[in-house]
Amino acid sequence: MAKAKKRAPQKSQKKPSSRRAEAKPTVSGPQRPSVDLDAVDRLESKMAASDDLARQFPFNPLKPAEFADPLSPPEGEPYEPGDPLATASTITEMVSSDKVGSGSPPVGNNMTIHPLDHHRADPAGRPLTTNQGVPISDNQNSLKAGLRGPALWEDFVLREKITHFDHERIPERVVHARGSAAHGFFECYEPLGKITRASLFAEKGKRTPVFVRFSTVIGERGSTDTPRDVRGFAVKFYTDEGNWDLVGNNMPVFFIQDAMKFPDLVHAAKPEPHHQMPQAATAHDTFWDFASLMPEITHMLMWTMSDRAIPRSYRTMQGFGVNTYRFVNERGDSVFIKFHWNPAAGTHSLVWDEAVKISGADPDFHRRDLWEAIEAGAFPEYELGVQIITEEQAERFSFDVLDATKIVPEELIPVRPIGRMVLNRNPDNFFAETEQVAFCTAQVVPGVDFSNDPLLAGRIHSYVDTQITRLGGPNFHQIPINSPVAQVHNNTREGLHQHTIHRGRVNYEPNSLAGGCPFQAGKMGFISFPEPRVRDDHKVRGKPERFADHYTQATLFYRSQTPVEQQHIINAFRFELTKVQTPMIRERMVAGLMNVDMALATAVAEGLGITDMPEPLPKMLQKKARPEVTESRALSLFARPGDGSIRGRRIAIIVADGVSGEVEDIGEQLAAQGAVPVILGSRLGRVKSDAGKLVEISASLDVAPAVVFDAMVLPGGDAAAAAMSKNGRVLEFLKDQYRHCKPILVLGAATQVLEKAGVPAALSSGKADPGLIVGKDGAAVDAFINAVAKHRHYERDLEPEPVV
Ligand code: HEM
Repeated sequence: MAKAKKRAPQKSQKKPSSRRAEAKPTVSGPQRPSVDLDAVDRLESKMAASDDLARQFPFNPLKPAEFADPLSPPEGEPYEPGDPLATASTITEMVSSDKVGSGSPPVGNNMTIHPLDHHRADPAGRPLTTNQGVPISDNQNSLKAGLRGPALWEDFVLREKITHFDHERIPERVVHARGSAAHGFFECYEPLGKITRASLFAEKGKRTPVFVRFSTVIGERGSTDTPRDVRGFAVKFYTDEGNWDLVGNNMPVFFIQDAMKFPDLVHAAKPEPHHQMPQAATAHDTFWDFASLMPEITHMLMWTMSDRAIPRSYRTMQGFGVNTYRFVNERGDSVFIKFHWNPAAGTHSLVWDEAVKISGADPDFHRRDLWEAIEAGAFPEYELGVQIITEEQAERFSFDVLDATKIVPEELIPVRPIGRMVLNRNPDNFFAETEQVAFCTAQVVPGVDFSNDPLLAGRIHSYVDTQITRLGGPNFHQIPINSPVAQVHNNTREGLHQHTIHRGRVNYEPNSLAGGCPFQAGKMGFISFPEPRVRDDHKVRGKPERFADHYTQATLFYRSQTPVEQQHIINAFRFELTKVQTPMIRERMVAGLMNVDMALATAVAEGLGITDMPEPLPKMLQKKARPEVTESRALSLFARPGDGSIRGRRIAIIVADGVSGEVEDIGEQLAAQGAVPVILGSRLGRVKSDAGKLVEISASLDVAPAVVFDAMVLPGGDAAAAAMSKNGRVLEFLKDQYRHCKPILVLGAATQVLEKAGVPAALSSGKADPGLIVGKDGAAVDAFINAVAKHRHYERDLEPEPVV
């Protein structure tokens, strides 16, 4: 942003000496300071300089423009004072000390805007102190009147410690309470000036720092990472024109169409209010009661009942802006935009049985995965893409782009990649950064704007509103993780926890006493897209007709899934609705699903013991929908297998005494590909290989069950294989890996473990199981690496579940 320009000064008619004589130094001190004649001089200079400034504004120069072209707001006309004292709060500002600072005024600068370094603390070589910096002599004992006497009220050290502790918790987010975050950067692929003036998209290769928080929605702050739920995907771009928050989810649609229903949705989905159960789950009556009465939810239910709701990792899920936004270019032309994040590692999910077991084995599964991947240098990477939609195209679609329950199929409008994001640094402190970060859809930068989506309108209000409570007042934007890298200057001051010390006495605009600063940015600033209003539109509460089609895209989603994905959706509906206690709610849901796909509805009904199919729910849209696309490959998780690497995959290698000496080579081969091999045994310590070498065990089977690994290796070695065949934990491990469709490498004598566990050597069709590699040598390891790259082998998974 431009600095204050120097205007040609307006000359006072009076001589400077007479102006100084007129100046009355009453503002910041006694009327007649008598001792320090310099002070008198400075006070008078200050007042004269103020008067000089004020004279530059015979009238408010911006006023006439208020009635001119609203799309060309004028830029303020600041005047730089000849004497910096003119805008100072005090003539003593040049007094310096370790506390007040250098004594040089920070003219034109907000010194609180600086990298996070300034806020980091490290106690190396430092003694313990109180919050006031007083060294603490004894951190073990409270102050007492005698060794066995009562503790004393005057013990300020104890009281400060306990008082701070008493207030360590802040309210958790009302939704998305459970989350994990990382720092990184966004890199622009090519200049996008034709469609947006946003500075972060201005140049090829331009990098913008980001902070990204992934989350679940329903669970509380301490809940498990792997419930069936939507995942938040919130990105804060610290651009050079201010912060832009793209607050998205891992699914491109939403449950409701209007913000008016958000509190109802969340109340219905959260634990039931009478007994606060269940935690982090929609599998209960109130959610499905609401869902079965809100047919617009149907499309979103297809997504939440799919494996998208149980991602393998934050690194393997997509992100979407969900609401339709706008890009606006320098000329003021606008297009609708849908945002997509695509993970370089591909889209991969857990299977339900595994997700349930992980909740017990490692409730921090996703948090740990993100943290460890970044610590290991396997930086998560996502590509940002946009669907660019003109007003005319949107008008012709069979659905409404303002309806957040609808996607724009990629076959209709392809996704154009515009940049990549890399997460390359973990936060230093969870509370200071991940907990205190405040995302908000209202935070946009010039070049990005809102559509009229009525859900988005509510969001624009909601985030800041809730954060005022959650973060204790209106100044949470100054919390280091929230403050931008761009300069901040305005007249919004005071309020709880104000950190900025604003110089000067001016906190309003227009002003002349601060030379008109901070001045209105005019066309440099954010100008809302002047969307034309539809003539004859009245102020109403209602919905446009295209919002009434509740089923066409739900059908599109379901029919675009592979058979195994469809089966998982059926299973999920059965699971959730089986947990519903009220039969009528189950019936209503089946009646709704009949409008999506009869086979789906019948399969769900069958699982619920509903033999007489109900009447389908009435449709709100009587006209037959004419969708542009009836099948979209992009909607299947398998459409994005990823970059084919096995980076970051956790692979268990189970050992026992007598294990084949090759075991360490196998580990090295896997690690060379970026995987994380973990040697597992019955207990910590070492085992002896058949070659007489000692092999170190990294974790025991007690703490590292199958579900926390992506693949497993059973190395050869006669004695080891014989021992493992008798070990219940190993057999259970193998069965789970098989059931969850994970790659398994079995070498040499270890085939007997397979047999003992009852794992079939081939698929039920008789075909070879591509995820089960049985062999002896290096070729088998190569085949296994390929199988791991494919992630899962769902060929095993088709219903009915094979008995293992
Ligand atoms: C009218 C609809 C919605 C309302 C009123 C709403 C409101 C909220 C509120 C109050 C929070 C907690 C914020 C905080 O305490 O910092 C939140 C968090 C969040 N919301 Fe929404 N939300 C809505 C819809 C959506 C939609 C459609 C999406 C996805 C595009 C979404 C994504 C998120 C995410 C990712 C977070 C967590 C941000 C973080 O990591 O701190 N919300 N929402």
